[in-house]
Amino acid sequence: MIIAGTGSALPTQVVTNDQLTEFLDTSDEWISTRTGIRTRHILGEEKLENLAAAAARSALEQSGVSPEELDFILCSSVYNDYMAPSMACIVQGLVGATCPAMDLNGACAGFIYALYTAQAYLKAGCRNILIVCAETPTKMVDWTNRATCVLFGDGAGAAVVRAGGEDLSFVLESQSRTEVLVGYNPPSNCPYTPHQPAAQPLFMNGQEVYKFAVSTATRGMQRLLAENGLTCDDIGHFVLHQANLRIVEAVRARMKQDKDKFPTNVERTGNTSSASALILLDELNRAGALQKGERIALSAFGAGLTAGAALLRWQL
Ligand code: ACO
Repeated sequence: MIIAGTGSALPTQVVTNDQLTEFLDTSDEWISTRTGIRTRHILGEEKLENLAAAAARSALEQSGVSPEELDFILCSSVYNDYMAPSMACIVQGLVGATCPAMDLNGACAGFIYALYTAQAYLKAGCRNILIVCAETPTKMVDWTNRATCVLFGDGAGAAVVRAGGEDLSFVLESQSRTEVLVGYNPPSNCPYTPHQPAAQPLFMNGQEVYKFAVSTATRGMQRLLAENGLTCDDIGHFVLHQANLRIVEAVRARMKQDKDKFPTNVERTGNTSSASALILLDELNRAGALQKGERIALSAFGAGLTAGAALLRWQL
């Protein structure tokens, strides 16, 4: 599988840590030292689907693949404006494609799960697949809960993947642990289900997520390297889910690598869920930071709990 093009789009509205102190008992110092986050982009008047389509158009343009040549659209989206149809179907219409389209939900690890799924579809005969990760976690959290709302931002990333090149290697993990991280749908007013729970915002045990993130990211990437007869020195960049700078730093320390091999953008974007690693990959791609032929290790974790790592060779 070859990544033939990438794209990303962030909302125009930027919110600083200091702005959050206007209504929350928090501080720039607490947020930036615990998470690295200084600003995040938050959807205001814009619509997530338009960000998703903008990211998709950039990826298509770079790949040279036209919308008509797409065989499938896979969208990773935990939360958006629609229960149905899928965000993938909305994006299909916006970019002018006619292929089948569906969403998947691998939570914040969704980009890796989408790559894994895309590789299987490419082996089944598809030639060009558009992956879109479009997320608005800022609409999932309780903005009176300082423990969660300060962590997130909105955004979309996209990649066009094509048949050919080396197969990607994957290590995927899922552990059913809703006691650690869970977000519920709003209650319904169905009269035959009278005892509906009250609306509940996203719940997260931050320290448990932290431990899971550091251990699974390190374990997953080390296993990928071992299975491929490689060491960290063979990897050009480690592109991780951007949830927290301290998580990236802890994984980097365990892998004993220099800072420049573990790029970050969480300082500017906050945690954009499954879009985060793809947005970062696109930023690196467009900055010319990725060398043709270099190996890239991807890693992400999220609710489920889910985790995924992938090893690819950059071909652009
Ligand atoms: N501002 C100020 N104080 C705060 C804030 C805040 N925004 N949030 C919590 N605190 C307080 C707490 O109330 C607590 O106070 P207390 O000691 O008086 O009780 C104190 O700070 C310490 O709280 P902890 O939760 O122990 O802080 P911790 O050091 O664990 O950091 C954090 C919390 C940043 C959430 C960390 O656990 C973390 O990053 N975990 C990983 C979370 C993550 O990555 N989530 C996303 C993955 S899943 C997904 O992407 C959907």
